[in-house]
Amino acid sequence: MNKIPVIIDCDPGVDDSYAIALAKSHPNYEIVAITPVEGNVPAVFTRHNALCLRETFEMEHTKIAYGATEPLVRPYFRDASGTHGEGGIGGIKLPDPTRAPEEKPAWDVIYEEAVKYNGELVLFAVGPLTNIATALRKYPDLPKYIKRFVIMGGGTFGNVTATSETAEFNIWVDPTAAKEVFEKLEVYMVGLNATHAAAVEVKDFDEMLEITASGKNKQSDYLNKLTKFSKENSFERGQDNNVIHDALAIAADMNEDVVKFEKFYVYVEDREVENVGETVIDLKGESGKAPNCWVAMKVDQPLFVKMMKDMCKYYAEM
Ligand code: BDR
Ligand code: CA
Repeated sequence: MNKIPVIIDCDPGVDDSYAIALAKSHPNYEIVAITPVEGNVPAVFTRHNALCLRETFEMEHTKIAYGATEPLVRPYFRDASGTHGEGGIGGIKLPDPTRAPEEKPAWDVIYEEAVKYNGELVLFAVGPLTNIATALRKYPDLPKYIKRFVIMGGGTFGNVTATSETAEFNIWVDPTAAKEVFEKLEVYMVGLNATHAAAVEVKDFDEMLEITASGKNKQSDYLNKLTKFSKENSFERGQDNNVIHDALAIAADMNEDVVKFEKFYVYVEDREVENVGETVIDLKGESGKAPNCWVAMKVDQPLFVKMMKDMCKYYAEM
């Protein structure tokens, strides 16, 4: 059976790391590229982390193509290291990478791979949408080459409480990019309402810790440290790392039973108003506009948690 080509556009990131690990554990995916963007931490860190993760998870055939360092219009002024730890991956130090990134930028690699796979590519975006918007500006025919576009972002409520209670972080960092992307691509939006409904409990983290501790390889070692950080940072320090947001976007495509989507008209508020960065969802169909976005509305939490544990087992038993 031919594998499904996938690209993960991301800002690693603790939950981005789980997303990459989950995708790599799936027997039917071929991760053709990872394209880091600014986000949880500045691009200098997300780039470094992407290179390190390629080697930790032994993704020899995966291209790393650097993306944007700042949002399209807004200044980049957020440091989410409270949630993601120093350097973006829980303060964990991975060995310095031995391989360099592609010479071409993220948007060129996304387009070239999409054309190469002739409409079979599944594109995940689990960070701010700057790279995807840039690709769409440069290559307006990109949508016809994308089989499915799944994001972690937006949702029916927000988490950027300092400035807006309705905006989700990824969309809020670059609302200009998000607005353009939602207008040009059919989005499968795995938002906060879905990811919070899939939150991981202490007992499940404990099981993941046990499984990863039994694995004697660098993948299990990294997942063990990541899980320790996630557990402590959630239940002891009040952050939301028990919500493994980005992995749910991957899980949603891996197994259609995990997330149920419904189609609604959605637009992104990109003006500098109180709710900048909100994904405004016409849940009642009152706008008269045609539905354009698949919104994750229901989640099978036990199934998602099982997938996370199975992923840990996959690496532990390698
Ligand atoms: C999203 O923001 C980031 O902090 C996470 O990696 C996730 O992609 C959740 O709002
Ligand atoms: Ca992310």
